[in-house]
Order: sequence, then structure tokens, then C-alpha cells
Amino acid sequence: MVTMSAPTNIAVIKYWGKADTHYNTPINSSLSVTLDQTELRAITTVAVSQKFTKDRFWLNGVEEDELLHSPRFRACLEGVQKLAQDHTDADGNLIYTKDDWKHLHLHISSYNTFPTAAGLASSAAGYAALVAALCQLYHAVETFPGEFSTIARQGSGSACRSLYGGIVAWRQGTPEQQWRDSKAEPVLTDWPELRALLLVVSDSKKDTSSTTGMQTSVQTSPLLQYRAQHIVPARMQAMEQACHARDFGTFAQLTMQDSNQFHATCLDTYPPIFYMNDISRQIVRIVTVYNAWAGELRAAYTFDAGPNAVIYCLEQHQQHLAALLCHYFPIPEGTLSCLDTSSVVLEE
Ligand code: DP6
Repeated sequence: MVTMSAPTNIAVIKYWGKADTHYNTPINSSLSVTLDQTELRAITTVAVSQKFTKDRFWLNGVEEDELLHSPRFRACLEGVQKLAQDHTDADGNLIYTKDDWKHLHLHISSYNTFPTAAGLASSAAGYAALVAALCQLYHAVETFPGEFSTIARQGSGSACRSLYGGIVAWRQGTPEQQWRDSKAEPVLTDWPELRALLLVVSDSKKDTSSTTGMQTSVQTSPLLQYRAQHIVPARMQAMEQACHARDFGTFAQLTMQDSNQFHATCLDTYPPIFYMNDISRQIVRIVTVYNAWAGELRAAYTFDAGPNAVIYCLEQHQQHLAALLCHYFPIPEGTLSCLDTSSVVLEE
């Protein structure tokens, strides 16, 4: 039996749109920050026994047969199984050969320590923890660097980035290489002053899932195609440079512009998709006024496929900013609460 946990990650250059639905690859590269908070993780236990008669899967205590048999879940199981190695005990006695694994059933249980499907990248942490636990159980070995992330990607695109700490890029990849190069890559593991503030506007399940939303956007939004081809490549480069230079002002500007553009593509989708709500827009205004008052960019908002905000800032401004936000959105009456202000992990 093996238990592994994986944190969520929040993109600053967004993945939106699939190039290939079978391989689950994106129309553009993306970049995210992995949050190392004990409160925001998926924890997955995988057990194997000759007594199990079939695979079973529980998500937050509820058995999920449909998800277990979904192509995404099977791609992760089978992907890791292909990399399985023989398993010996401490004395070197062979317990399972790599072929035995194929005939052994699994019981898998996964818990999220945060709202599922509320735009807090729960599928990213979930599939990353699943792949990490399976890799450990099967003693899997990569045949090329980043291969585990290509497996997690097939569970949920953003999951590939959660296998690494710090600032992580997901390279778009190419069909010529059967998308083996569509994988995550650590960009920066050391920016200790960077902080993420999470503002939970709503913890209810989102109306339009990312998968469905991006499918409609790819089919109907000309803005999305333009963004993927003409804007993201240069923005990725500028963002990576800003991260390496620990240039928070540029990081903040690109983060907010990319979030705005992602939500603009949602509006350009037909029928339009609205992930942000009135409270989300108030957060945008407060951050804008705060930055204008400071005379420099000290805070950057970003919104995924839901109304919740993540605000990046530097440690020295974290308390001031949290106090300001809590003033405008008092926790007892408001619909918004400060979930956590702990630091971003930057580890390998
Ligand atoms: C807005 O990774 O959830 O959070 O690959 O279909 O599972 P699937 O999509 P998913 O999409 C995440 C979209 C996003 C932006 C991002 O994390 O880059």
C-alpha cells in the first residue's frame, strides 16, 4: 500500500484549448506556480492485493465507478503500468514481476483537502497524486525525463505541472514526437518571497467544466486561436525571464494580462462562458486601485475556470494586502474568505 499527496498549481500563463483530445495536449504552452500548502492537496492511497477481484476507486469517500473506467483514469493506470519494474523485498526475494502487476487489482482512495471542481485545480492535484502513488507502487522508472508528467497530463492537462514544485512550464509539444515532448519542466525552484493568497468566492461546483469549456472555445473563438499562435509564445518567454530575474512587477503584469485574456476568450466563445462573477470583478478593481496607490505592481490577481481569485504578492506586502481584502470582504458576512496565506514552495 502506498500513500502520496500532490499540491495544486495555479497557472499564470493559462492552458485553454486542446490540440489533440486523445493525447490531451494543449494549443499553447503554459506556466504555473505550485502551491505548497498542506491545506490544498490531493492525498491518494493505492492498495494492491491478490484478494481484490476488481479495481475500485473512492473520491472523498464516495465510490466512483464511472471515473475509474474513464479513458483519462485508464490512461494514467496503464501509462504507469507500462513503466513498472519487478518488486523485491528487503532480502532481495522477488515478490511481483513487472508482468504480475497487470493481473493484480487495485483499490484507490483519494481525498481533496479543498473544494472539488470549484476552479481550484482539484483535478490537477488529484491526477498528480494518482500518478505519483502508482509510480511508487509499481516502482516505475521513466524512459525519458518528464515521462511521468506526460502520463499525468493524460489524466488532466494541468496535472502534469503539479508533479514539480516551484514555477513550472508545460511545454506544448509536437505531434511529430507523438506528443512525448508535451511535458512539464521546472523553470524556477527558488523564489522564497513569493506568496499566494487564495480568495474563495464560491466553493460550489463550476457550471462549465474546463474540458467542456475549452472544447467550445476551440470550436468557436477566433480570439483563442490568435492568442495561442501570436501572444502566448512571446508571453511565455517574457514570463520565464521575469521569473529568473525575480522581477515581480513584470510577473504581476503578465499574470493579470493573461488572466484577463483567458476570460476574454471565454466571452468570445459561443455561447459565452462566464467564470468570473461580480465579486471576482470587485477583487480586480481593489487590486488595481491598490497597485495604483502603491505606485508599483505589488499584487497580481488571476482567475481560473471559476470565480475564486488567487493573488500573488511578495512576502513584504502579504499582510497589508490580506488586511485590505478582508476589510472589503469581511469573512463573517461576505461570500469571500481568506483561505490561506502560506508560502509557495519552491523545492525540486
Ligand atoms: C483554466 O487541466 O482542468 O485552470 O485537461 O481537460 O482536465 P483538462 O483541463 P484542466 O484545465 C485547466 C484550465 C485552467 C488553466 C490552467 O490551469 O492552465
